[in-house]
Amino acid sequence: MSSTPGISIRTARLSDALAIEGITSLYAEKGYMLKRAPENIIENIRNFFVAEKDGSVIGTCAISFFTLRLAEIRTLAVLDSFMRCGVGSMLVRQAEEVLREEGVTTVFVLTLSPDFFLSMGYREVKKEMFPQKIWRDCTNCPKLMACDEIAMIKELDRPESRTSE
Ligand SMILES: CC(C)(COP(=O)(O)OP(=O)(O)OC[C@H]1O[C@@H](n2cnc3c(N)ncnc32)[C@H](O)[C@@H]1OP(=O)(O)O)[C@@H](O)C(=O)NCCC(=O)NCCS
Repeated sequence: MSSTPGISIRTARLSDALAIEGITSLYAEKGYMLKRAPENIIENIRNFFVAEKDGSVIGTCAISFFTLRLAEIRTLAVLDSFMRCGVGSMLVRQAEEVLREEGVTTVFVLTLSPDFFLSMGYREVKKEMFPQKIWRDCTNCPKLMACDEIAMIKELDRPESRTSE
């Protein structure tokens, strides 16, 4: 993976909410993700991460817990001008790290960018594996009956098994 110097990943702050909304609406308009209203981002701000360069937010992603062991990574977006610089991978790795620390063992995504998630160790599964997601979010989605997103999962290794390697 290539990487760009000077990019850092951190937990989002309330003051990042409008920048997050700006980046995600770019892709929501193109149909890559569901639009998240500013009030929804603000309500969930502690679950967002941002990638920052020179004080500006250039990428974001969020985590969403479903059970004690199952969580989703969602709302992943990197500004066009920083794509293929490793920012998306940095964001997903940070999200996975936090999920692992919380004891999550399985993380899933619903995505139109399967090649990116394949490169991050995810594999395709049937969406029906996640009835919790369907109850919580999909029922309110305009794409419900014609969902084109691909469900992918990754089993997270336990922190102790990684440190002993
Ligand atoms: C998907 C997305 C977040 C990837 O971010 P990124 O910063 O460009 O990804 P990275 O640079 O970390 O890519 C890591 C690897 O993923 C793979 N990859 C990333 N984008 C890819 C693409 N468009 N096509 C094929 N492979 C891709 C490559 O293997 C890449 O490694 P390489 O550049 O060394 O070949 C970004 O393209 C994006 O914001 N897309 C629009 C929104 C979206 O689809 N979000 C996902 C919703 S869940």
